[in-house]
Amino acid sequence: MSDNRAQFGTKLGVIATTVGSAVGLGNIWRFPYEAGTHGGGAFLLIYIFFIFVIGVPVICAEFIMGRSTRRNIFGAFRMLHTRRQWAWIGYMGILASILILSFYSVVAGWTLEYLGQSAAGIVASTDGVAGNGGGFDDFSTGWRPVMWTLIFLAFNAVIVLRGVRKGIEKASNILMPVLFLLLLAFCVNSLFMSGAKEGLEFLFKPDFSKVDSSVLIGALGQAFFSLSIGLGTMMIYSSYFSEETPLVKSAALTASLDTLVAILAGVIIFPAVFIFNCEPAAGPKLVFEVLPEIFHQLPGGVVWSTLFFFLLFLASLTSTISMSEICVAFFCEQLGLSRRRAALLNTAIAMGLGTLCAMSFGSLSGLKIFGLTIFNLFDYAASNIMLPLGGMLISVFVGWFIDRNVVKAQLKGTGTISEGFLRLIVFSLKYVAPAGIGLVFLAGLGII
Ligand code: TRP
Repeated sequence: MSDNRAQFGTKLGVIATTVGSAVGLGNIWRFPYEAGTHGGGAFLLIYIFFIFVIGVPVICAEFIMGRSTRRNIFGAFRMLHTRRQWAWIGYMGILASILILSFYSVVAGWTLEYLGQSAAGIVASTDGVAGNGGGFDDFSTGWRPVMWTLIFLAFNAVIVLRGVRKGIEKASNILMPVLFLLLLAFCVNSLFMSGAKEGLEFLFKPDFSKVDSSVLIGALGQAFFSLSIGLGTMMIYSSYFSEETPLVKSAALTASLDTLVAILAGVIIFPAVFIFNCEPAAGPKLVFEVLPEIFHQLPGGVVWSTLFFFLLFLASLTSTISMSEICVAFFCEQLGLSRRRAALLNTAIAMGLGTLCAMSFGSLSGLKIFGLTIFNLFDYAASNIMLPLGGMLISVFVGWFIDRNVVKAQLKGTGTISEGFLRLIVFSLKYVAPAGIGLVFLAGLGII
């Protein structure tokens, strides 16, 4: 079975696809919104700390499981250990990936609306969306977000149906670098706006008096969400890696590039937040209210805005295809469905739940569970609870339960790696990552 699995073709392909999965709305939409609600500077520092101290080891753990077994998360646990209970991590991963796909597609749908408006030559002014006077609030409470969510999921289904190598790899190879350059350009623009200082201070000057357990949970959830870890995405991708791919290096590079993009997004957004008198803690709508303001004052704003929302849409697609891959691989390899049926089933479920998420800004806004709208509940439960929990169990599994030689062989690959460094990674998997995640959970429960 492992022999006829598709493999990523090129070295660039490996990095571009893992980065393509990692970089997306998580960096450009979710990071600024989380940083904004959690006070800025201190959140950023804690976030970076979690990325490298917990995130990188967890990516390595997923890579080790994926490449050594060449299976999806279920197959991987089963192959590496006789106990059936580990499969629960897989079920949690499937659930989390569906929840994320559902609310993520709503935000990707918003980008399609903005793309359409900018392409039609309209850029928002202070009113928000595209100068139609209504602003983001009017748009998001109407029926159009539902339509865009469904359209986005249809795009996603088409790409997923084209299979692993052709669809995913080609698209990300070309488009991610273009998005990166565009972000750099916007970043320079923001730095030169008069009055940029206040926003930069908000983002970079830590004020630790604002740190409480919600900041810790938020930063940990954001780290997992942004790196696409905790539910088997990186595992399934690494099951397509060749033996030559250096795992630790790829993990570190993916984490670094992902963090860089999030910081760029922060540098683009926060100066504008303060200059245009927006509220940093505005929540999910933050970047959708602030970005149009930026484009509005740029010469040729419509062109920039069109290009940007187009690339953001594509960045979202490279992320959603990676989420979909979890379910599709499960339906195919464990339930024996054809790839086509599996992709259609995954799309149908996400369309149903995505519609509810889209409506939770409008007609369903009054429906609250644990005090959260459906959209926020899906996000909170998946990102802040299921992903870190999954990551904790995956690192415990790799650190404690599987044959140390498998771990070593995978980390070494066909290259060399020093004994000390190997030990450091194993130590992180056994102790640092699980304890770190555990402490954040305890803090969240108010126990410490
Ligand atoms: N990391 C992606 C982003 O930042 C989102 C994503 C893709 C994801 N695949 C995932 C998040 C798997 C969690 C799990 O936009």
